[in-house]
Amino acid sequence: MSLSPAGPAIETLGLHKRYGQVQALHGIDLSVRRGEMFALLGPNGAGKTTLFSILSTLLKPSAGTAQVLGFDVVRQRAEIRQRMGIVFQEPALEQKLSVRDNLRLMGLFYGLSFRAARERSEILLDKLGLKDVAKRETQKLSGGQKRRLELGRSMVAQPEILFLDEATLGLDVDARRNFWAEVRDFVHAGGTVFMTTHYMEEAEVADRIALIDGGQIIALDTPKQLQSLVGGGVILLATEDDVRAAAWLREQGYTPEASERGLLLVNNDPATVLPALLGAMPVKTLRAEVHEPSLEDVFLKLTGRGLDTRFGQPPQDLHGDPQ
Ligand SMILES: Nc1ncnc2c1ncn2[C@@H]1O[C@H](COP(=O)(O)OP(=O)(O)OP(=O)(O)O)[C@@H](O)[C@H]1O
Ligand SMILES: [Mg+2]
Repeated sequence: MSLSPAGPAIETLGLHKRYGQVQALHGIDLSVRRGEMFALLGPNGAGKTTLFSILSTLLKPSAGTAQVLGFDVVRQRAEIRQRMGIVFQEPALEQKLSVRDNLRLMGLFYGLSFRAARERSEILLDKLGLKDVAKRETQKLSGGQKRRLELGRSMVAQPEILFLDEATLGLDVDARRNFWAEVRDFVHAGGTVFMTTHYMEEAEVADRIALIDGGQIIALDTPKQLQSLVGGGVILLATEDDVRAAAWLREQGYTPEASERGLLLVNNDPATVLPALLGAMPVKTLRAEVHEPSLEDVFLKLTGRGLDTRFGQPPQDLHGDPQ
């Protein structure tokens, strides 16, 4: 198989998707570089899976265009499918097959020879720490092992781009860390990753993040740049006498806010300001911490709502009917 043409890994222009009366995507313009780890972050119903499905050629857009690895997602689906790996939000493993056979089957599905499928499967079993359970029926794996196997399956045919939709849903912290370590290896080897998540900690591992809400991209940048939209950092100071400390801080031109844990100061340059404050403050400090603004803070600032499911809002309904 020839390598894909040069140019961006993903490029979309004015993508729209409508399901009956629901407008799930409202004009998505996006460009993802080769070798980039790109995250789509947004609340439930924001349109993540819809965009993911269009880019991975499983769903046709209602309007607009999209290219993946230089190929059109509607007219050149086969070209894209040969070069991509995919992990779905819903599990897609053959439960009755062994772990090893799941990998081999996927290799054959992608058109590898028996021999190549066997070889790739052994490499991945080793790499993903699944050698000890290679003979086990897939349905008897732990949740973390199943997700790792899904990742393995998506990488059997050595894809150029990986699509991951909420790929670590339900995993504990350790299993997630392992999962992302594997994905990072793939990126270090030159692969491109397009992932969706509604966990902000996961999005932070990406090179760039698009925040999506109601079918529109509301911000797109590096995690650091997005966080800076909120402005610098948050300094927390617990002192022997917070009232006196607050009065002194106000004299210095700061605007401290009292909280249960101490005084909070939003500041553009906490790394410089905090040591200076600690050196000069007339009250003994018991604890000092600096917090980065989180992506949750950014989303809140831009939309007035959190990323949490409970606050998620369905996208615009064209006719105002209940969904
Ligand atoms: N097949 C479908 N038919 C009708 N409406 C759909 C269909 N699939 C999705 N939708 C609607 O389109 C909107 C976007 O859904 P989508 O699955 O893309 O969201 P999401 O961001 O992936 O959400 P989640 O975080 O819950 O996975 C939602 O309002 C959803 O109800
Ligand atoms: Mg989804």
